[in-house]
Formats: sequence, structure tokens, C-alpha cells
Amino acid sequence: MGFADFFFMNPALIADPYPLYARLRGEGPVVFDRDLNTWVVLGFAEVSAGLRDPRLGAQRMFGDADEVPTALQPMASIFAFVSRQMLFRDPPDHTRLRGLVSKAFTPRMIETMRATIQGIVDDLIDAALPRHGMDVIRDFAYPLPTTVIARMLGVPETDNDRFKRWSDDFAEFLGTPQMDAVERLMASVAELTAYFRALIPTRRGDEDDLLGALLRAEEHGDALSETELFANIILLLAAGHETTTNLIGNGLHALLTRPAQLQRLRAAPALIPAAVEECLRFDAPVQFTTRVAKAPLAISDQAIPVGKEIFFVLGAANRDPAQFADPDNLDVSRRDNRHLAFGFGPHFCLGAPLARLEGQIAFATLLRRLPDLRLLEDTSPHLPNAAFHGFQRLPVAF
Ligand code: HEM
Repeated sequence: MGFADFFFMNPALIADPYPLYARLRGEGPVVFDRDLNTWVVLGFAEVSAGLRDPRLGAQRMFGDADEVPTALQPMASIFAFVSRQMLFRDPPDHTRLRGLVSKAFTPRMIETMRATIQGIVDDLIDAALPRHGMDVIRDFAYPLPTTVIARMLGVPETDNDRFKRWSDDFAEFLGTPQMDAVERLMASVAELTAYFRALIPTRRGDEDDLLGALLRAEEHGDALSETELFANIILLLAAGHETTTNLIGNGLHALLTRPAQLQRLRAAPALIPAAVEECLRFDAPVQFTTRVAKAPLAISDQAIPVGKEIFFVLGAANRDPAQFADPDNLDVSRRDNRHLAFGFGPHFCLGAPLARLEGQIAFATLLRRLPDLRLLEDTSPHLPNAAFHGFQRLPVAF
């Protein structure tokens, strides 16, 4: 079994990729995968150096139709669309797109969301209390970040189900190597485009939300094209739908299956911020990303040719014993925890301050209000997705 088996979604590896990572790391911090015909970077030092190396670019999605291989030509439009997201751009486009959105995501701006997030968390727990149980994913970890990002963007929360379908299709496109995922995303992008073309004229134009700011950037001058606007809206929706859910699900599972750690956290709630970082390190919601060599380079002693797309495995770097003492153990009081769950370098997660705040409020409130919280299943199924790592459901009682 190699990294390709994980990438092609072998269920046992999707549920627990860490023994595979450890075995591969034993061969070296960078290994060549014959089935994928490329390199896989697993070591902490090598992943962090690679993600900030300007010779490794983020423009790994076909942009113009003439870059798309013949077999994929019918889908050229979707690659062109997705390639306009900041996640897939290098400077100067990346700098411009990130600049337009980043003001809304500074720690100071995010702090103004604290009361809103606390209110949503309390409402979700209030709704579950009479049932003495819930599916943490469906009833808590999913609705929390989706409601928050809908409010920040300024889109109607009543349309959350559509946003979920579009986001899920985008996550499937990124994290599963299946052709029908491309077709589904094409349909979703057509719907999203129609939806926002209808919504935009209903806006007054002075709204103090993220969509308002982006629309003003699109209208005034050439700061943002319509395709860039729609492509980055789906990125924000998907980032708000697919990742924080799994921070809460994976983290809660890790804590509930380790009673001693849970007990420490209950006894010392001041450890909550450290515990959230440790949950992110221990079972990262985004397991890997990729970059393309724009110039010849060597990682460790492996020569990488120009044009090659290589894998950077954040989930493996986070368990590297050269960086973390006792990496396979969850330690809610771990210090100097410079994990790579949010990536590194110019594409470091824009939403990290928001995800951290949501995670901290979620864990603090769940533990405070539900003293008898416990898992109901020994093994809950994982999402069939190699990049986005999380549970399909997580039933608990209290
Ligand atoms: C626990 C939750 C989250 C995790 C683990 C996470 C993880 C990541 C990672 C690993 C990257 C870098 C990918 C790469 O380098 O290729 C990234 C980028 C990004 N994330 Fe997050 N994310 C989370 C939550 C969020 C939230 C809530 C938002 C906003 C609503 C968000 C918005 C973004 C954006 C816009 C980028 C692209 C940044 C760029 O290209 O400059 N993320 N995220």
C-alpha cells in the first residue's frame, strides 16, 4: 500500500492514514509514488519549506482552454472557473484577490463575531438538550460554520442547503479523483452563477458585509472580474462548509476516546486554545495540498523537474517525530505547537482566526454545558474524500 491507495480512497486508509504516513516517512521525508508518478512530501521541515518556496507555484489548475488535454476539453470551462480562485493563483493575481477578502478576516474583525458565534452554539445545544443526544456532525459541527459564513458573506441562511450542495461538489472535485465529480461541479457552478446573478440586483450596494465589499470591488475599476467574484464566493462557502465541521468532529472524537485528556481539559478550561491547536495537529481536516514546480529544484535529495505537480501531506508533517515529541499522542497542553493544519506561506489559511474562534467557543461550550457527553458508536464512518478528512456522522449522548 502506498500514498496512491490513500489518494484513490482505500477506506481503511481514509479512516486512519497515519500508520501509512509513518511507514512512508521511514523511507524518507520525500518519497516517489510510482502509481501517481510524482513525489509525496511528508517531513515537517520539507513541507514547510516547500509551501513557502517561490519556485513551487499554486497555479496547478488548467487556466485557458488550450492548456486542457483533449480528453478533458468538454470540462475546460470548470477548470478555467476554479483556476480563478486565490487558492490556485500566484502573484500578482493571488496578492490582489487575497487583499480584497483579507480585511474581513483579520483577528480584530473576527473578534467582533464572538457573540454571534456563542449565540449560534448555544442555540444548537438548546435544540439538542431535550433529546439527550445528537449527531455532532449534522446537528452541531455542520450548522455552526455554515451559518457563520452565510452571515459574514451576507447571503440568506435559508439557502444553506444549496450552498452545502455546491460546497460538497467543490470538495469532491478537489478531494476525489472521479470524472463524475467534475460533471457535478459544472452543474453546481451553473446554478451558483445563476443564483448570484439574481441575488446581486436585489442588494442596495452599501451593505457592510463581505459580498457587499466584493461587489464594490467588482463595480469600481477592474479589481475583480465577474468570474473571479463567483469563483471566490464558492471558495469561501466551501471553506466555511467543509473544514471547521471536521475540526469540531475530529477533535471531539479524539477527546471523547481519550478520557484522561478530556478530564484534563474539563478541569482546566484555560487549556481550550491549546487543545484546539492540538486537535488540528493530531487529525487535520485538510490532509494534503499540491504545488507545481515552476523552476528546477531539489527537495531533500530528490530533483523535481519543471511542471511536476507534487503532494504536500500536512497530516503527515503534523505527526513528524523530528518536530513533535510523541506525535501520535494527543496532548491538550502541548506547547510550541507549530502545526501545518492551516498550511504555510502565502496561501496560509485566510480563515484561520475564524476557524480557531469557532473551535474554541464550540469545545468550551460543549464541555461546560454537557458534562456527561459520550460517543454512541465505536467506529463512525469517514467521508469518502482523501483531501478533506472527517466523519460522516458522530452520534453522541448526554
Ligand atoms: C479548521 C478549519 C480550516 C482548516 C483546517 C483550513 C485549512 C486550510 C489550508 C490547509 C489552506 C491552504 C491550502 C494550500 O496551501 O493549498 C487554506 C486556505 C484557505 N482557507 Fe482555510 N481552513 C479552515 C477554515 C477556513 C475558513 C472558515 C475559511 C473562510 C471562511 C477559510 C478560507 C480559506 C481561504 C480563502 C484559503 C485560500 C487562501 C489563499 O489561497 O491565500 N478556511 N485553508
